[in-house]
Amino acid sequence: MEKKGITRHIPVSEPLLGGNEEKYVLECIRSSWISSLGKFIPEFEEKFAKFCGTKYGVSVMNGTVALQLALAALGIKNGDEVIMPDLTFVATANAVMHAGAKPVFVDAEQDTWNIDTEKIAAAITKKTKAIIPVHLYGHPCNMDAVMKIAEERNLLVIEDAAEAHGAEYKGKKAGSIGNVGCFSFYGNKILITGEGGMCVTNDKKLSERMHFLKDHAMDKERRYFHPEIGYNFRMTNVQAAIGLAQLEQIEKFIAAKRKNAEIYNSLLKDVKGLTLQHEMPWAKNVYWMYSILVEDDFGRSRDELMKLLKAEGVDTRPFFYPMHQLPMYSEGHGDNEFPVASELALKGINLPSSVKLTADDIRYVCNAIAEASK
Ligand SMILES: Cc1ncc(COP(=O)(O)O)c(C=O)c1O
Repeated sequence: MEKKGITRHIPVSEPLLGGNEEKYVLECIRSSWISSLGKFIPEFEEKFAKFCGTKYGVSVMNGTVALQLALAALGIKNGDEVIMPDLTFVATANAVMHAGAKPVFVDAEQDTWNIDTEKIAAAITKKTKAIIPVHLYGHPCNMDAVMKIAEERNLLVIEDAAEAHGAEYKGKKAGSIGNVGCFSFYGNKILITGEGGMCVTNDKKLSERMHFLKDHAMDKERRYFHPEIGYNFRMTNVQAAIGLAQLEQIEKFIAAKRKNAEIYNSLLKDVKGLTLQHEMPWAKNVYWMYSILVEDDFGRSRDELMKLLKAEGVDTRPFFYPMHQLPMYSEGHGDNEFPVASELALKGINLPSSVKLTADDIRYVCNAIAEASK
């Protein structure tokens, strides 16, 4: 229910389509190239891969199938285990299940909210084939630690960079460090195509295998000859047209996200009972979702604060449920096994984070938060 007199509505995320999106989409329609062939697809793949500092890009329909494609192309199969963070969006775990493998969850670390790399070794078994670090809410994982374990134990690394376009680990872009990086271009992401996704890699053979598998695994030389079971994960030219136009503006989007964070940090730093989103010295956080933790001494619970903000016209989101709390992944697990992820999930809120936010919007949100504190 909206409070009387409240006219403001500040969403968590709002797309900005202010560049060449309309022009390029019209080009698709006027030329009738609206399906999954057309000039925008290779151009978007090439330019997005370049933006990530990688050689190859393989476009797909969404970020979930980007993960599925990467897993399939790397040969992850029935009976394999894949290590991933407990605190992530459900797509990371589901993609592993769809490959026939078992997701093995690892607790979060306190500062970055990402996978605790010190706890990865204990989760490795003879069946472990890969690690999926997730760059949560735009902050990169500690990739040196992930890559060190992967090299020592001969494991593959699939970066889930769905939320971290342009984030950097020691100057390297998220998604460019492991064997493959997977992105989402869903409508609330930093770069959007409506639905959409991309796998990026420096491995030519892997990129060719992903192109092959995403297109029904059709033989390049023999049309309609399919030597194995593939998928239809193809992106359309219309999605790629929007993606290309968005890519032209991505530095502006990232700068806006980082500016949002700077303003939030300055206005919330003195509000008692809040922990603000970190940026480690080695990281460039792109603050996909500017997020805070509501601690006990704030005087109200996270859920109470969300309700009060809603009454002021401010939309928020709670953190994801950790995977071990979801019915299909809970068997044999309890909160005591994942104390950090469980606590973060109870305390975390994503605040409005659009690239369209004004300083005045952020001031309004921060005033509402400060007023709610007791
Ligand atoms: C961490 C993470 N992985 C994967 C996905 C899946 O992406 P999509 O929604 O495009 O399928 C998302 C986003 O929604 C995500 O946040």
